[in-house]
Amino acid sequence: MAKIGNIDVGDFPLLLAPMEDVSDPPFRALCKEQGADVVYTEFISSEGLIRDAAKSTMKLDIYEKERPVGIQIFGANLESMLQSVEIVEKSGPDIIDINFGCPVKKVVSKGAGAGILKDVDLMVSLTKAMVEHTNLPVTVKTRLGWDHDSIKILEVAEKLQDVGCQAISIHGRTRAQMYKGEADWAPIAEVKNNPRMHIPVFGNGDVDSPEKAMEMRDSYGLDGAMIGRASIGYPWFFREVKHYFKTGEHMAPPTLEERVDAARRHLQMAIDWKGERLGVFETRRHYTNYFKGIPHFKEYRMKMVTSDDSIDVFKAFDEVEKEFAGYEFA
Ligand SMILES: Cc1cc2nc3c(=O)[nH]c(=O)nc-3n(C[C@H](O)[C@H](O)[C@H](O)COP(=O)(O)O)c2cc1C
Repeated sequence: MAKIGNIDVGDFPLLLAPMEDVSDPPFRALCKEQGADVVYTEFISSEGLIRDAAKSTMKLDIYEKERPVGIQIFGANLESMLQSVEIVEKSGPDIIDINFGCPVKKVVSKGAGAGILKDVDLMVSLTKAMVEHTNLPVTVKTRLGWDHDSIKILEVAEKLQDVGCQAISIHGRTRAQMYKGEADWAPIAEVKNNPRMHIPVFGNGDVDSPEKAMEMRDSYGLDGAMIGRASIGYPWFFREVKHYFKTGEHMAPPTLEERVDAARRHLQMAIDWKGERLGVFETRRHYTNYFKGIPHFKEYRMKMVTSDDSIDVFKAFDEVEKEFAGYEFA
């Protein structure tokens, strides 16, 4: 049974990864319904938060139904990170997660995200200060290292644990790899197998089938799997993994009706949360996956991803429901 601080997150929990512009309240709600055990917000800039930037503070919205939920923040300045902790606490998350893994230039160039992998002492002292500044469990998400020649994850994980980090999620790539190549889970397993480690070690990177999740659990012995891309437009991934764990068999894919229902609810929740324009715009990226496999779908997809008015998008969902009723997904 894995525990993050005092929070019982079950046996081999499945965690929804923090994903910018994806892991928002509507999407987190859908993933939670489909079996995600822990969900994380997308990363939130500590500098944005302390300046009360509207875009950053909106990302702090969390809802009872998604608990346990972690709010992820990033930054490299101690004072800003500590102030952010105080702001984040007011939203009442269950967990505060620190992003030490984001590879993008605009973040890394400021020494934040994966940029901090070049300065392990700062990474540890920031974590320590944040742990001391809050009663909430602090977790860390990071990568294997800056590049192939500087992988120090074993040492880094121990140090983070020693200063009070309550769980660590490790993406099995270096910063230099960005998203290229295959995630390497062996160094994550080394962290887990270190007899000094007692906090949960969650694996991340390329879990895109129930078999891979099982491999992470049984062959690599990790404490849980953090799932990102496989869930985009496919929140059912969580239930499919759980079904496979329980029965050893693949669950039938969601029906057309379930997909249309999810798309409708996703769009409606997005509009309710962030308004018509952004709601319509930011839900677009999910539709291709929601309806993946339907032949000659282009006409409908185009309507969904080019209409600026939600009425037209809802109409496209109705048309799909009628046109492809009973369609059997492979
Ligand atoms: C669209 C997108 C946005 C992401 N945003 C974040 C983020 O805000 N914070 C973070 O720690 N990682 C972020 N990531 C990385 C994911 O959390 C995860 O580590 C990575 O996608 C590997 O897992 P996967 O193979 O299951 O997708 C993002 C990834 C994607 C694809």
